[in-house]
Amino acid sequence: MSDILIANEAGVTTLTINRVARKNAITSDMYAAMADAIEAAVSDAACRVMLIQGSETIFSAGNDIEDFLNKPPAGADAPVFRFLNGIANFPKPLLACVCGPAVGIGTTMLLHCDLVYAGDNAAFSTPFVNLGLCAEGASSLLMPQMFGYHRAAEALLMGEPFMAEAALEVGLVNRVVPPTEAAAYAQAQALKLAKKPLSSLVETKRLMKAPQQAQVMQVMQAEGASFGRMLREPAAKEAFGAFMEKRKPDFSTL
Ligand code: COA
Repeated sequence: MSDILIANEAGVTTLTINRVARKNAITSDMYAAMADAIEAAVSDAACRVMLIQGSETIFSAGNDIEDFLNKPPAGADAPVFRFLNGIANFPKPLLACVCGPAVGIGTTMLLHCDLVYAGDNAAFSTPFVNLGLCAEGASSLLMPQMFGYHRAAEALLMGEPFMAEAALEVGLVNRVVPPTEAAAYAQAQALKLAKKPLSSLVETKRLMKAPQQAQVMQVMQAEGASFGRMLREPAAKEAFGAFMEKRKPDFSTL
């Protein structure tokens, strides 16, 4: 079965990250599949709302570390950047349903969603520093704005997980429900939106996003350049090597 499932029902296009055995870690092929679906959905009249989800126990472990080492993103057309650009510029309502861990881009992609529903087992984290990397997905701009600077600094510098209730408090999540009910709840909310006039949804979203859309894109590009450079530097090499060898990284000389 495919690692990304795409379904369309009653105007709702659902992208399901479906690689549970690897904790829904996202490979470049999976980014490409999601980017293709998002780009196609922009002009597809059958898509009025898009919903991204994982499974009841895992949303996503973020980038697949092995795949990332073998195929680091090369240039602006790399699948991960196509995916990020796609969600940052998606004109129709974009929803997410998050249960279990949401690591790295599993959390930062939510900053581009309009509505986020979470199971009470959701655990969000942005451990970029712990991986010798830096913030990505415009999170260095959007997290301080949404969380307040100190709470964003805690999330981005400490990189420790925070649970669904904390995510609700900082505004990352709209509602927390039992994990067994999360997918049905998110789907029902998406269906409600799909019945509303699309032109009004699109225009309202555009007006909300317009004041800082250019800045979001510029920050995302700057972060991408730093992230790409840092991937090749000693701290990231040590962090990724430690992950592959199942040991703790040693940053004492870095
Ligand atoms: N890339 C590649 N493989 C990954 C992965 C990732 N991001 N996340 C998990 N996996 C693999 C594990 O290596 C493990 O493989 P194994 O069965 O061959 O040992 C398998 O998926 C199961 O993961 P495990 O860590 O045992 O599951 P868990 O339930 O204890 O923990 C997570 C789940 C998501 C909290 C944990 O796997 C994790 O922290 N992953 C790394 C997240 C990360 O650093 N992402 C990069 C962000 S840029």
